[in-house]
Order: sequence, then structure tokens, then C-alpha cells
Amino acid sequence: MFAQAILMSCLMTMPPAREPLTDVQRRRIAGLAQLSPPPADPTNQFSNNQVAARLGQRLFFDERMSRNGEISCATCHVPELGFADGLPLPMGLAEGERHTPSLLNVGWHRWFFWDGRADTLWSQALHPFEKDAEFGTTRMKVIHHVAEDPILRREYEAVFGPLPPLEDETRFPRSAQPSGDPKHPDTLAWQNMTAEDQQLVNRIFANIGKAIAAYEHQLNTTNSPFDDFASAMLANDERAMAEYDSDAYEGMLLFIGEAGCRQCHNGPMFSDLEFHNIGIPPGHGGLPQDAGRWEGIDVLQKNPFRANGPFSDSPESQRGRSTASLIRSSEHWGAFRTPSLRNLNRTAPFMHQGQFATLKDVLAFYNTLDDMVVLDHHQETVLQPLDLDERQLAQLETFLLSLSSPEIPRSLREAPKTPELEQKTPLTDPNR
Ligand code: HEC
Ligand code: HEC
Repeated sequence: MFAQAILMSCLMTMPPAREPLTDVQRRRIAGLAQLSPPPADPTNQFSNNQVAARLGQRLFFDERMSRNGEISCATCHVPELGFADGLPLPMGLAEGERHTPSLLNVGWHRWFFWDGRADTLWSQALHPFEKDAEFGTTRMKVIHHVAEDPILRREYEAVFGPLPPLEDETRFPRSAQPSGDPKHPDTLAWQNMTAEDQQLVNRIFANIGKAIAAYEHQLNTTNSPFDDFASAMLANDERAMAEYDSDAYEGMLLFIGEAGCRQCHNGPMFSDLEFHNIGIPPGHGGLPQDAGRWEGIDVLQKNPFRANGPFSDSPESQRGRSTASLIRSSEHWGAFRTPSLRNLNRTAPFMHQGQFATLKDVLAFYNTLDDMVVLDHHQETVLQPLDLDERQLAQLETFLLSLSSPEIPRSLREAPKTPELEQKTPLTDPNR
């Protein structure tokens, strides 16, 4: 009797048996599964160089390069928050205009920033230094910093070769950059340099970006509960498949089925890596003013550090060629890059201005499309209100959270070891 009662209550709490997956479902699930390490970037020949990555990691956590000595990349890309900042809008020297994206798995992206105004990870890394609201410094100051710190200099030269005589301040002023304001002392200092010295400085600056990118290339996550489920599916291991949470499972079927999410959130990054305007209302109210991809293409094509520019290690690569062939169209206005959906458990708030505090808010938007902003000029119209019930929305949310992976190793989440310890380790570079 007693045993029977236990059996009954077990049966009642057990999830209903799952229908076998169809071939289409299996294919779609396999297409989203298990992110491998990102492919090497041919425009950065140092992207898998360990010493470059260590230098990059040092620079990532180094506050000494900012104008007030208090800002580093990690100020906004906080390791414990999935390398985002937990804020709707970032706070550097001043408040920024767009939400800080997570850097987990960032090496997989095709275009960087919400508007894709950088086409490589290394060229992206050069933007924050000269941005007033972020580091508020100049490339010349950054380079002097690397040259004057013994550890940074040693690692830089081990990877990229000897630095020019930067102590000659008649050739290499303390501070200089080719900024927009022609009367600014930093701009004048830049203009007084010879074209050859400007090239030398730009080359060093690009190398610094390549070192930072080599570090960021390692920030990869795998083995989320969803990935484990997909691996079990591919191995036809029914027992292991059954371990996947049943709400996550139902949410997954919605995601790859009637909710239509994979139209844009596809591939192992859960992103098509391209740009869409899904009509998220701007955080400041009123009509959108951020031109997104429209502006991003223009900024990118004028940047000397682009993938098909003189500082790229492979201007003829696919990256270089696609930048060269970009053409703006009205559809780009107000479009933002589809974000990855991995690790959303630590990267709230969401969207390009952090408009939504929680995943529930995001799903409520997709469900009703209330307050969606539709521009009067051409805009793709993919989204339809989902009209899901509360239970289905909760399942979708559980599925999204099941795309979260364990933390990456601590050694990647903090500045490399102290200089004293570091000096005892020999500098060996397998690539040189
Ligand atoms: C003041 C805050 C702040 C600082 C400091 C900062 N970032 Fe960012 N980062 C942002 C914001 C905000 C964006 C998105 C901006 C946009 O899309 O216009 C961003 C975007 C990025 C991206 C693009 C990610 C993607 O998915 O496209 C990378 C990579 C990145 N930052 C790396 C860095 C590095 C490296 C540094 C240090 C050199 C740095 N950031 C310093 C706030 C910051
Ligand atoms: C038409 C393409 C498209 C479709 C379909 C789509 N998304 Fe998105 N998604 C985007 C874009 C683009 C953004 C960023 C929009 C912005 O910030 O303005 C986004 C943002 C998000 C975010 C916020 C992520 C972050 O880090 O900020 C989540 C979560 C999300 N989508 C989930 C979903 C789900 C769930 C579905 C299916 C119900 C879905 N999306 C359908 C393109 C799409």
C-alpha cells in the first residue's frame, strides 16, 4: 500500500513523457549547440599568441591609462557580471549612450558594438581610449605608458619587436591624437609629427589592440545545460536527455518553433551576427534618435584601423572584403546587432540602452509588441505578437536561462599575477 502510494505520487510529479523530436527539431537544436573556441582572426596574427594575451589581460585591468587614473576596461566589463556592468547605461568619466554588452564569447562576433562600427576585435579595443566619456586619453599617452612600464614594455617587445625611441619628445609628444577638433592641443601635436612617425605610432597602437583582442579571444563559455542536452541528443543518450529541465525543454521547442526566435537568434551564439530594427522604444522616450547600423557603417569605412586597412594583417580576408563592399541602405537606420543569448543570467539589463530590467520584460515585449516603435521609412517587419500564455512565457524564460554556462577560470577574471612573481617566469613565445 505504502509503496504504491509513493509510486503514485512519483508518477504524478514526473513530467509527461516527451514526444520524440522530429528531424527538423533535431537539426535546429544541433545548429544552436556547443560553442567551440572562436576561429583565429586572420587580420590579427597574434590572436592566439599567449604572451600577447597576457599583455592584453594586463592592459584590460590597468586603470593608469585613463584621465583620472580610475577607469579600466574592467570598470564597465566586470568579470563577475559576464563582463558587462549591470547598468542600463555605462559610467566611465561620464554616462555613455548605449548599454555595455557582455564580452563572453565575443571572439565569435562578426561586427563589434551595437552598430558594428568596428569589424575586428583589435580595432574595437582602440575606441575606448580616445573616447571622452570612457578613458579620455590619447593614443600617444597610451603608448608612452606601455613604453615606460618595465613589464608592459618587456612583453610588448617580446611579441611585436623593439619600440622606436619614444623618449625623444620632439618626435613623440607626451600626448597627441588625430581628434576631430582642429584647435585642440592634442590634435596640433599630432599634426606636428611627421607622417612616418604618425604611422609608427598607429602601428604600435594597433598592436596594443591586437594584444587586448588576444586576451578577449579566451573569454569563452561552454557546457550550459542546453549544450549538455544537445550533446546527449547527438549521442542518442535518452537518459542524459531526460536530465534537462522540462520547462527548459518546452521553452526550447517554442524558441525553435512557433515563437520564431531563431530567425535572428541562430547558430551557436544564438545570433545571426547581423543587424535588425525590432522597434524597442528608446529609454529617453519619444522617437528613436540613434541611427545604429546606418551610422556604424560610415564610421567604420573611415577608420584607418578597419579590417581592409593598412594595419590589418590580412586586408584581403573575408572580413576585409566584406567591409570594403558594405553599402548603406535605409533599412540600416535604427538597426542594432542581434545580441547573443548566452549567459543572460548575469548580464541584465537588456537591449541597446538597457531598456528592459528583466528577461520577463523582454518576453512581455515580444509577446505583445506593445509600445513597439515603427519608423515610417522602410523597416523589416518580421515580428508578430506571440500571444503566449503565462506558462509558456515562463518556459521560454527557463530555456533562456539554461543557456548559461559555468564561470570561466578565475585566472582570466583578474589581472595577471603581480609583477614580482611575473619576472621570475621566463618569457617564452612559441610564435616567435
Ligand atoms: C565606460 C564604460 C566602458 C569602458 C571603460 C570600456 N567599455 Fe567596452 N563597451 C562599453 C559600451 C557601452 C559598449 C557598447 C557601445 C556601443 O555599442 O556603441 C562597449 C563595447 C565593447 C565591445 C564590443 C562588444 C560587442 O559585443 O560588440 C568590446 C569588445 C569592448 N567594449 C571591449 C572593451 C575594452 C577592451 C575596453 C578597454 C580598452 C573597454 N571595452 C572599455 C563600455 C565600456
Ligand atoms: C527580427 C530579429 C529578431 C527576432 C525574431 C527575435 N529577436 Fe531577440 N533581439 C533582436 C535584436 C536586434 C535585439 C537587440 C535589439 C535592441 O537592442 O534594439 C534582440 C534582443 C533580445 C534580447 C536581449 C538580449 C540582450 O543581451 O540585451 C533577448 C533576451 C531576446 N532578444 C530574446 C528573443 C526571443 C526569446 C525571441 C523569440 C520570442 C527573439 N528574441 C526574437 C532580434 C530578434
